[in-house]
Amino acid sequence: MSIRIRAPGRVNLIGDHTDYTGGLVFPIAINRWTEIRGERSQRITLISEDEFGAVELATQPAPPQEATPAWGRYVAAVRNELAHRQNVDGISGTISTALPIGAGLSSSASLMVAIAIALGFDGSAVELAQLARRAEVAATGVPTGIMDQLCIVSATPGHATRIDCNDLTIDHVAVPEDVKIAVRFIAHRTLQGSEYSARVSECSQAEAEIGPLRLANLSDIEEITDLTVRSRARHVISENERVTTFAQALASNDYRAAGEIMVQSHHSLAHNFDVSTSTINAAVDELSRIPGVYGARMTGGGFGGCVVALCEPGVDIDAWIVSPVGGAQRFDDDTDDMN
Ligand code: GLA
Repeated sequence: MSIRIRAPGRVNLIGDHTDYTGGLVFPIAINRWTEIRGERSQRITLISEDEFGAVELATQPAPPQEATPAWGRYVAAVRNELAHRQNVDGISGTISTALPIGAGLSSSASLMVAIAIALGFDGSAVELAQLARRAEVAATGVPTGIMDQLCIVSATPGHATRIDCNDLTIDHVAVPEDVKIAVRFIAHRTLQGSEYSARVSECSQAEAEIGPLRLANLSDIEEITDLTVRSRARHVISENERVTTFAQALASNDYRAAGEIMVQSHHSLAHNFDVSTSTINAAVDELSRIPGVYGARMTGGGFGGCVVALCEPGVDIDAWIVSPVGGAQRFDDDTDDMN
């Protein structure tokens, strides 16, 4: 039987560095996918059109660090997580992706969701997202949140996914047709070795002093003694508010307001949370000044990656126009029915 799986990447419109404190996020799944094509087999044999070497693994769990080449760790980590809950199916196949790798568009979450489905994952969308997230943390050692995986598994065409990362509820919010989303690639980067983990710790420190940031107000942060930790909390609390006001602005077709909120978000990520770079800041400034661009911001974990902009249709801009697509899917025959 031939198996085909397609998992999209995502771009976050607003709500960054909020997911790991149970905050709000607002990503869209985008029309660039990771695909796996293959046949059922006794073992797991995968080659990648984009990465060197073949991954050859048994379906039984083993430490992911032992997998070679390096990208095989992702496959091994998914297999291990899957083996904790169910039988793991073998596959012999090929992975390809139209997502730039390590560019803040969730190439790795997209890959891991696709692998889990390829190995026969059987369960709910939320369970799939949680499994792929645990696997990513095991493979990379970076304590990332649930945003990317939940968006990738649950998105609906034409809609953004507003996710409450505390109770994992998802609202599908229509993205109006008369507004476009542009993505400009800035730089490849990896969150391994970045200050991502330090930001997660700083948020925990803030929560140890004032309780869950998702429930806190900006006035609460005055109690935080360390000024750096206070700034981190200021970002998270204000960013959660911005997700709500951005969603309202989009729903009422007030794109000018939505764009301004994106720019405020960028400033907070750059100055309160310190996860931007001078190149990203320059790109946000440049894009925001282009006629027909409502606003722009860094997107995802930062330290490189991409910038996202909200624009009028037909705007003259050096960036990819992306559109909101549905979540990861498996196709069990040779139809071309990939939405
Ligand atoms: C990365 C992580 C996500 C999230 C973003 C920042 O993409 O994988 O969980 O924390 O950074 O919003």
